[in-house]
Amino acid sequence: MTPATPYYLLDESRLLRNLAIVDRVRRSSGAKAVLALKCFATFGVFPLLRDHLDGTTSSSLHEARLGHEEFGGEVHAYSVAWSRDEVEQVAAFADKVIFNSASQLRTFHPLVEHLVVGVRVNPGLSHSHYDLADPARRFSRLGITDADELREVAPLVSGLMFHFNCENGDVDDLARSLARIGERYADVLHRMDWISLGGGISFTSDDFDLDRFCDLLADTAARFGVQIYLEPGEAVVTRTAELVTSVLDVVHNELPVAIVDASIEAHMLDHLIYGTTPAIAFPPPGAHRTLVAGRTCLAGDSFGDHSLDAPLAVGDEVRFADAAGYTMVKANWFNGVPRPSIVVRRLDGSIDVVREFSYEDFRSNLS
Ligand SMILES: Cc1ncc(COP(=O)(O)O)c(C=O)c1O
Repeated sequence: MTPATPYYLLDESRLLRNLAIVDRVRRSSGAKAVLALKCFATFGVFPLLRDHLDGTTSSSLHEARLGHEEFGGEVHAYSVAWSRDEVEQVAAFADKVIFNSASQLRTFHPLVEHLVVGVRVNPGLSHSHYDLADPARRFSRLGITDADELREVAPLVSGLMFHFNCENGDVDDLARSLARIGERYADVLHRMDWISLGGGISFTSDDFDLDRFCDLLADTAARFGVQIYLEPGEAVVTRTAELVTSVLDVVHNELPVAIVDASIEAHMLDHLIYGTTPAIAFPPPGAHRTLVAGRTCLAGDSFGDHSLDAPLAVGDEVRFADAAGYTMVKANWFNGVPRPSIVVRRLDGSIDVVREFSYEDFRSNLS
């Protein structure tokens, strides 16, 4: 039976395609890869992911706990700012705790010294196209910026986390950044056991130079005598899901405006934040210009201006592409509009509705 719209449809065979690339990178570079749960935390497919990743990394106590309970493997726990209570809780199950600042590292080190401890470094490098997502933006709070301060606290850690890429598909660029990091922090890096390069490297994209990437990782690991970690989110789930919706109404205001039973603000929030437009996976492109809009009251709740092969009518299906990363983890209850179910197309082609949301779920978010 076809699930009722709206729903996120995750395709396990597409996931497996990306995971095969993750495997290749781990095998030929020696790097380990931990899934960034901030991007994707749909645990209904963790059994598939688990064999191809070394564990998870997180941005909070809750994510770290989910990684521990549902994924297994290594649990890396990072937060931009921990409370004492959270550090005490996370220390009970995390393998590695990463602090964001020298002050938090100094304060909480005694609580976690039996674990692997790291600190985030902000090398002042950036590949982000958006100021909003640029860890090197002015006044950034993300990681230690002062190399002398890093040297002072370095004896408290066995590794460093750098996250400075954002959809970076250019290995030359990455090589230049690693060279600069290598020069600036060489003395500290030689004393470390591991370094994490964070996420944002789009190594599962079609035109990515995987062999060079693997060589670069292996060379960097050998040069400093460290285990390299990658923290992929988007690279694991890119092009593996669609948001499947139905047209509820078509109004006319200069152009036809098809209103679907989902919302950009509630269900694909990053497009609103970054001012981008989702691609439509279905219907196919054509000559019929149509605005596709969401159903919340926000005037700009728009899925964009598209040219489709036929005019949209009430009841038609519209599928938005690339709906796995930063969608389900950010979905919200604005306007009380129904949350899309989570549906998985398994490797054998069967369809599993792994989560449906109800009025009670909406209500339980408030009190
Ligand atoms: C520290 C850290 N690691 C990993 C990631 C995952 O990045 P992506 O989903 O772009 O691979 C992020 C994303 O913001 C991050 O901040």
